[in-house]
Amino acid sequence: MKICVLPGDGIGPEIIAEAVRVLKALDLKIEMEEALLGGCAVDATGSPYPDATQKLALAADAVLLGAVGGPQWDNNPREQRPERGLLGIRKQLGLFANLRPAILYPELANASTLKPEVVAGLDILIVRELTGDIYFGQPRGIEVRNGERFGFNTMHYTESEIRRILRVAFEAAKKRNRKVCSVDKMNVLECTQLWRDVAIETGREYPDVELSHMLVDNAAMQLVKNPKQFDVMVTGNMFGDILSDEASMLTGSIGMLPSASLDANNKGLYEPSHGSAPDIAGKGVANPLATILSAAMMLRYTFANEDAAGRIETAVKKVLAQGFRTGDIYEPGMKKVGTRAMGDAVLAAL
Ligand code: NAI
Ligand code: MG
Repeated sequence: MKICVLPGDGIGPEIIAEAVRVLKALDLKIEMEEALLGGCAVDATGSPYPDATQKLALAADAVLLGAVGGPQWDNNPREQRPERGLLGIRKQLGLFANLRPAILYPELANASTLKPEVVAGLDILIVRELTGDIYFGQPRGIEVRNGERFGFNTMHYTESEIRRILRVAFEAAKKRNRKVCSVDKMNVLECTQLWRDVAIETGREYPDVELSHMLVDNAAMQLVKNPKQFDVMVTGNMFGDILSDEASMLTGSIGMLPSASLDANNKGLYEPSHGSAPDIAGKGVANPLATILSAAMMLRYTFANEDAAGRIETAVKKVLAQGFRTGDIYEPGMKKVGTRAMGDAVLAAL
């Protein structure tokens, strides 16, 4: 297993160090090599995604990323901004499937702004298409027409683009509770009528997974009203952008949420859902669990090692049950720890 490790900026190096320790402790045949991405890469080479990093990322089976960005690069020209590095690597690796679990561990039920009984034990997976839809469709632009400004974008999907993301959702559901909810707006948008048709066709390949359909406005409502009705939700790029942010905030704890972005062969980029947290960078207080859980997703999706992924996830549940808390999830009465001590606790639990 060849892993390209990209610590990135801000808290990135601190949280990645803990995930790397956890991976090493599993005693698997893993080769890890580090490279630069983001602001640190701009500073060292002038490019946010330097050639040496591209080479390593292309040759690896998976990429483990911390986070990129920070205020010191905010005024850089567009090509020298850290986010350019992130977009560049996602595009170059063809990562069309974005998997974002929203899990609320029972011990953290008070972290949510929703009532504990609505969200306690929540475990859903949003599968978002990441390289198509209205975000990439042509034509697009702002023009003057008939004497006023006119803005336009184009929503489009080919059936093969829809089918491949649906298959990712069905495959993921097979490893979970065997339910897929496909989200569209077929009552208004033809493009998403095609989405629904292809979802129904693809569903026939997976008779052991229950398929349902929901219009996106209702899905937004149901996520807040009764989120536990869902197992896997699958949708296009724009709806997925919005719903995945909504779903992640049901849990109220950004430091706990991993993510995966996959290509057609399960090569993937794994990263926490949060950013580089410049406000706490270098202080040793960041929560490393989202990154450690991202490493677990890597073992599950790229390396098909469900056993090792499960071991990490069980260890994380155990440290929460033992009362270990970083600042972002701290409640009075719990054991407040920093990044390294949280990593130590996970290693001990492993
Ligand atoms: P952020 O996620 O970095 O921080 C938001 C808040 O959550 C901050 O108060 C931060 O301290 C806290 N937080 C985040 N992760 C945490 C962790 N692991 N443990 C404890 N607390 C944590 O989002 P923000 O502040 O909007 O962005 C900061 C920088 O990160 C910006 O430059 C932004 O562009 C970049 N960013 C990068 C992303 C990526 O690399 N994928 C994603 C989002 C933002
Ligand atoms: Mg978003």
